[in-house]
Amino acid sequence: MARLIAVFLCVLLMLSCCEAFSSYVDDGYGHEDGSFESDSLLKLNNDDDVLTLKSSDKTTSQSSTVSVANFGAKGDGKTDDTQAFKNAWKKACSTNGVTNFLIPKGKTYLLKSTRFRGPCKSLRNFQILGTLSASTKRSDYKDKNHWLVIEDVNNLLVDGGSTGIIDGNGKIWWQNSCKIDRSKPCTKAPTAFTLYNLKSLNVKNLRVRNAQQIQISIEKCNNVNVKNVEITAPDDSPNTDGIHITNTQNIRISDSDIGTGDDCISIEDGSQNVQINDLNCGPGHGISIGSLGDDNSKAYVSGISVDGAKLSKTDNGVRIKTYQGGSGTAKNIKFQNIRMENVKNPIIIDQNYCDKDKCEQQGSAVQVSNVVYKNITGTSATDVAIKFDCSKKYPCQGIVLSNVNIKGGSASCKNANVKDQGTVSPQC
Ligand SMILES: *[C@@H]1O[C@H](CO)[C@@H](O)[C@H](O)[C@H]1NC(C)=O
Repeated sequence: MARLIAVFLCVLLMLSCCEAFSSYVDDGYGHEDGSFESDSLLKLNNDDDVLTLKSSDKTTSQSSTVSVANFGAKGDGKTDDTQAFKNAWKKACSTNGVTNFLIPKGKTYLLKSTRFRGPCKSLRNFQILGTLSASTKRSDYKDKNHWLVIEDVNNLLVDGGSTGIIDGNGKIWWQNSCKIDRSKPCTKAPTAFTLYNLKSLNVKNLRVRNAQQIQISIEKCNNVNVKNVEITAPDDSPNTDGIHITNTQNIRISDSDIGTGDDCISIEDGSQNVQINDLNCGPGHGISIGSLGDDNSKAYVSGISVDGAKLSKTDNGVRIKTYQGGSGTAKNIKFQNIRMENVKNPIIIDQNYCDKDKCEQQGSAVQVSNVVYKNITGTSATDVAIKFDCSKKYPCQGIVLSNVNIKGGSASCKNANVKDQGTVSPQC
């Protein structure tokens, strides 16, 4: 009987994967004059295949829970609970049958840098109901780039149950950042929460705050649904990107609130089919595609849709940034139904991006094409509301402004092929 059920589950899994992939094969944009078929953008069913799978699991087999509390984790916020977490993970990951890894509510667990590595037998749920609190000692980071990492686990739900918090206690790292204290050498700081090489991932009802550097980094994942996350850090905390996406395909982020010291969301090389809905961003540096083409690299980003966002008092609104000297493409990008309040650089494409002491003049560039800005309203905090600073050799192609109305600033457009539709103010 158990074998039968296993076979049945396998078939279900395969079916749901096929379904997921079949709707993503084509990135499906009209390439003429920047028009899009928005229907062909990423469509995930509301709670997605993973949850369908979960509910079928429930009816066919029992799930078991492995709690860190049963492995000696104290949760007093002072005792190092790293080893208890590792032992609990080992058990949860190797258990047959649907398994939940539980971090109980109402406790604070102090952790050193930790990797939760798969593949696992049948782990489906990583439940963070309590608080994970980062060690503030540099020597507790065997890996200087990461604090918590989940990697190589498929069909996983990371659920904060609305009480779970990941707290990077980043203050000490910010104070020692060369961006804050120029006398200090520039060293790496850990990303608080890295999701690496996960297929069919759900993240929901989770809070992340005060990361040492990047708050959540989603890398090399496919078929991802992030919903109802709240990310916070002070506006002057350096490099604390809210959600960083790289080498990831088919991802949706919705109903989320991000206020942080760097980009609310940054989308980097190798990302395709990224959909962002109902985002509140601010403070922060806005929604960024890039930086792309650093150190003469090739970068490819396509199929990005931001539909429904409010940005308040951010340093940028919707931004595409590329370094001189890079190559590749950033294309099929749509920003729509966005409200900006007192935003510096509400709409910006910057192909001369440089965050180093000096960047050389170089001819080659990441080609930016088919970018639509539709129904974007609000106020600019600077004199320049729209800035297209594109490459001379590779001008921006197929830029469409459709019903854009941003008060308080003008437009500055260089090497950009721009078409206006409806009411557009300011105009190039
Ligand atoms: C324009 O965007 C706003 C959100 O900023 C939304 O409330 C409004 O319905 C949109 N208008 C149209 C015509 O889609």
